[in-house]
Amino acid sequence: MSEKLSNPYERHIVVTDDGSTSLDIPEMNEMYHSRKGARTESIHVYIANGLKQIAAKSIAILEVGLGTGLNALLSFYHAVQNDISLRYVALEPFPLSIKESGLLKFNAGKNDQDWIEKIHRSADQSDIAITDHIVFRKEITRLESFESDERFDVIYFDAFAPNKQSSPWVLSNIKKCYELLKPGGCLTTYCAQGQFKRNLSEIGFQVTNPKGPMGKREITVAYK
Ligand SMILES: C[S@@+](CC[C@H](N)C(=O)[O-])C[C@H]1O[C@@H](n2cnc3c(N)ncnc32)[C@H](O)[C@@H]1O
Repeated sequence: MSEKLSNPYERHIVVTDDGSTSLDIPEMNEMYHSRKGARTESIHVYIANGLKQIAAKSIAILEVGLGTGLNALLSFYHAVQNDISLRYVALEPFPLSIKESGLLKFNAGKNDQDWIEKIHRSADQSDIAITDHIVFRKEITRLESFESDERFDVIYFDAFAPNKQSSPWVLSNIKKCYELLKPGGCLTTYCAQGQFKRNLSEIGFQVTNPKGPMGKREITVAYK
């Protein structure tokens, strides 16, 4: 069942250093992506170190924190270019308005506008076809309330940083992610906080720390 949630924060569109847009929440002093480059960061963390780690032609992704839809958009392009059948389920308690999503510019490819619009116009808990081989589903909910019998190959864990919003990172949520992953699947995130990594290990994940994007020391990719 979907939750009734209202966004407590004002957010503003910003252009990051690689020319792609992101959102800024001044009250939280938090961005949706790195100021150094939203698209560059997403490609490195979620596509190169997440999606590309799975050698299958049919892949299911769960995203925690859909936000602007950039990770979804980049995953769609990757799927089309590599003949992958993709199922993409995205959790987001505070979806963007159509006005907000209409201001986004990612310069990722020729389908940007069409796919971003489809993502943000899609109804809660409805499977929609992006192409013949890509299905997208948005769930307007927090990870804490999400329940599913589906199992995923990759989890993009893209919540706000734990020092800004601790609730998504609690142990019970990380356990839930472990349950939601298929054996051999991976959780990938920009976050490399010590406590988070210890929690992942405690639950049974094999934790790796590849190099981060744009001078960032490391990110986290954890395998089941
Ligand atoms: C860093 S931003 C996401 C960036 C996003 N992946 C993108 O490409 O734009 C974090 C997102 O997590 C969402 N969020 C906050 N609390 C959450 C929770 N408990 N479960 C899932 N998502 C949450 C926020 O509303 C926000 O959209």
